[in-house]
Amino acid sequence: MGKTVMITGTSTGIGNAAALLFHRKGWNVAATIRSIEKKPKEFIGLENLKCFTMDVTDKKEIEQAVRDIINEFGTIDTLVNNAGVYSTGPLEAISDCEIRHIFEVNVQGTINVTKVLIPYLRRQKKGTIINVSSIAGKVTFPFQSLYHGSKWAIEGFSQGLAHELKEFGIRVKTVAPGMVKTHFYDHVFTIPENGNTDAYKKSFTRWHAYLMGNFEKGYGPEESAKTIYKAATDKHAKLTYAAGLDTKMVFFLKQIMPHCLFNSIVRRSVGI
Ligand SMILES: NC(=O)c1ccc[n+]([C@@H]2O[C@H](COP(=O)([O-])OP(=O)(O)OC[C@H]3O[C@@H](n4cnc5c(N)ncnc54)[C@H](OP(=O)(O)O)[C@@H]3O)[C@@H](O)[C@H]2O)c1
Repeated sequence: MGKTVMITGTSTGIGNAAALLFHRKGWNVAATIRSIEKKPKEFIGLENLKCFTMDVTDKKEIEQAVRDIINEFGTIDTLVNNAGVYSTGPLEAISDCEIRHIFEVNVQGTINVTKVLIPYLRRQKKGTIINVSSIAGKVTFPFQSLYHGSKWAIEGFSQGLAHELKEFGIRVKTVAPGMVKTHFYDHVFTIPENGNTDAYKKSFTRWHAYLMGNFEKGYGPEESAKTIYKAATDKHAKLTYAAGLDTKMVFFLKQIMPHCLFNSIVRRSVGI
């Protein structure tokens, strides 16, 4: 039996492309989706690629899905925590419900799935956990404070956990995509009309134009899928893998530039 990868959030985007890539490379793929009605048509008829229902905020569903995957494939070698949501806007205009949601999915969701899987990986004395972070997990832009908070949390969580699990042969890594053309930004194509945003209208409108312009120039999800595959198969003890030239360049510039200069370039490039 070949190796098995479990990937969260495979209905669209990066998770979907990663599922198809691991399948092409001969892996068993446990593709988890929130609802079976969203099973992607490109998965139909693929041998050794099976869908399992799982909302990353639902612990019972996670436990059930992990049991079902192990029954189906015998083991899980690699977990890819990919499911995530996006948010942009001035903090004071974002509802408490949206704030909770972004942390529940991006942070708590990743922790939930990881925590259920650790005992299995620890018993088999090997495994790889790949958390899909972002360029936004190391570099900040305006009007994304919540998204940054969630992805910086993933970077810290992953780095800390990597120490803790090393003695059991379990590797923890992050993959940081830049701008990827997926459904991620679907709900931000128009500027939300909200009285609380009036004071920020000028700068938010500029940021929004920058975001949409970058989206148009973004990579396809296949580029990030390749980096996830590289992280899964790389023997090096590297923590973060930048996906795409944009992320690699920004990480490099951040490393070599003084903090104030870097941040002032960020603000100028987004027009504020
Ligand atoms: N696109 C980018 O520019 C970009 C850049 C850097 C990092 N990323 C990261 O890449 C990952 C994938 O994003 P994407 O660009 O591929 O976006 P996407 O096409 O919107 O895919 C997001 C996936 O997450 C799933 N999901 C959302 N909430 C979930 C929940 N509660 N439980 C389980 N699954 C859930 C979605 O399922 P449904 O279809 O059911 O909603 C979907 O399958 C995210 O972690 C994101 O932060 C994206």
